[in-house]
Amino acid sequence: MSELRRTKIADVLKRDDFGAQVCVKGWVRTKRGSKNVAFIALNDGSIIHNVQVVADREKIDDSILDRIHTGASLSIVGLLTESQGSGQNVEVIADTIEVLGEANPDEYPLQPKKHSLEFLREKAHLRFRTNTFSAVFRIRHAMAFAIHEFFNGKGFKYMHSPIVTGSDAEGAGEMFQVTTLDMKNPPKTKEGEIDYSQDFFGKETNLTVSGQLEGELAALALGEVYTFGPTFRAENSNTSRHLAEFWMIEPEMAFYDIHDNMDLAEEMLKYLVKYALDNCKDDLEFLEKRLLDEEKSKPEKDRSEHALIEKLEFVLVNDFERLTYTEAVEVLRNSKPNKKGKFQYPVEWGIDLQSEHERFLVEKHYKKPVILTDYPRDIKAFYMKQNDDGKTVRAMDVLFPGIGEIIGGSQREESYEKLLARIEEMGIPKKDLWWFLETRKFGTVPHSGYGLGFERMMLFVTGMGNIRDVIPFPRAAKTAEF
Ligand code: 4AD
Ligand code: MG
Repeated sequence: MSELRRTKIADVLKRDDFGAQVCVKGWVRTKRGSKNVAFIALNDGSIIHNVQVVADREKIDDSILDRIHTGASLSIVGLLTESQGSGQNVEVIADTIEVLGEANPDEYPLQPKKHSLEFLREKAHLRFRTNTFSAVFRIRHAMAFAIHEFFNGKGFKYMHSPIVTGSDAEGAGEMFQVTTLDMKNPPKTKEGEIDYSQDFFGKETNLTVSGQLEGELAALALGEVYTFGPTFRAENSNTSRHLAEFWMIEPEMAFYDIHDNMDLAEEMLKYLVKYALDNCKDDLEFLEKRLLDEEKSKPEKDRSEHALIEKLEFVLVNDFERLTYTEAVEVLRNSKPNKKGKFQYPVEWGIDLQSEHERFLVEKHYKKPVILTDYPRDIKAFYMKQNDDGKTVRAMDVLFPGIGEIIGGSQREESYEKLLARIEEMGIPKKDLWWFLETRKFGTVPHSGYGLGFERMMLFVTGMGNIRDVIPFPRAAKTAEF
């Protein structure tokens, strides 16, 4: 074997020094052939496209070719040649083929045909090897990178918030407990309660539902920070938009009011969309085509009006619509679906807006992303800044087409007295939050922040329909196989 260094397929496909010797390695997508030659489509994950390898039976022994099936891994040395019609500019005429690992066609689950996304979810260990999932996960990488690039460019500091915490930031009680106590025989206090003082951390702990509270502590010293980490919610909602483990980006900024907060959110979302358009074109084009094929099988009335890339470009060029919750409720109450009783959940001031309401506002009424502010205080978290009306708080939710809520955030309550009163009113144990309260006691400032659900953003950018298909190994109720 020659010592020729491997070239990635993404790089091979760009070359035009025909006649050069190259070494490519990857996994077989398809093999087809005639009596004299075999054509092997090889993919190494560096790009959505395959390189075509031509294996002449005079040069490559049948004993090797017979071992090559979809899914096998190969190392090939051959001649870079101008392609006659493989759909690419180049192909590789093989001199030698080494089979690194076989894939028995009777057992390998991924055959060169269309598999359903549901089927592939059951094969999450192998689904990376499909075009759809390799495209999704390359885009996921690009979006994570772009997030760091965006905030770094603005001088924000990346803050690692803890995964194990003792507090429930959102106050929704949807936490996974973390304990090393013996579940069969936990130590008890005199009162017969579980004695957490004997637990690993000496107190009751859980997986974080949000890095916000710790982010606030850092922002009140470093000015502008963001977290980007896994968050966990034991909400048993089996929807296409909820996970039990998801990633959240949470910027937190001192001296920002709600308007600065909205400006940042809109700028960030547009930056991410533009980054995808500029850097993930091949993958987006593939996913767009996949979606168009899927649309064709739907009844006409359910088909999307816009293709994926058009949808992304649309977000870039339009200002997001900004209005208050109260105004939105008026729009919804006067809407056709409401008057005709088409909403499953009736609309009145004070309700938590449902997905059907959010999507009506975004997709039917304003036909662009919408930012709603000033929600009723009773449906929002304790830390949000209270408005003078005594009824609403300075919350903001960003609603996206096809998704609904993609961002939730607010200006924060910076008054010690008001925050304490709210904590007591809501029955939140003050002893768990003494450190959070102290930031309001010592040098408090107006500040704001928000949380972007990373997988919801991924749904939007890729056009995928189910959140379980944009995270490598989804965790949801009764789902933690891989
Ligand atoms: O609106 P949420 O609950 O807000 C917070 O957690 C705040 N602490 C954020 C902040 O102000 N720093 O969640 C924020 C976003 C939602 O808008 C949604 O995009 C996403 O996180 N999200 C989920 N994504 C997937 N699965 C779930 N179960 C999610 N719950 C929330
Ligand atoms: Mg929310």
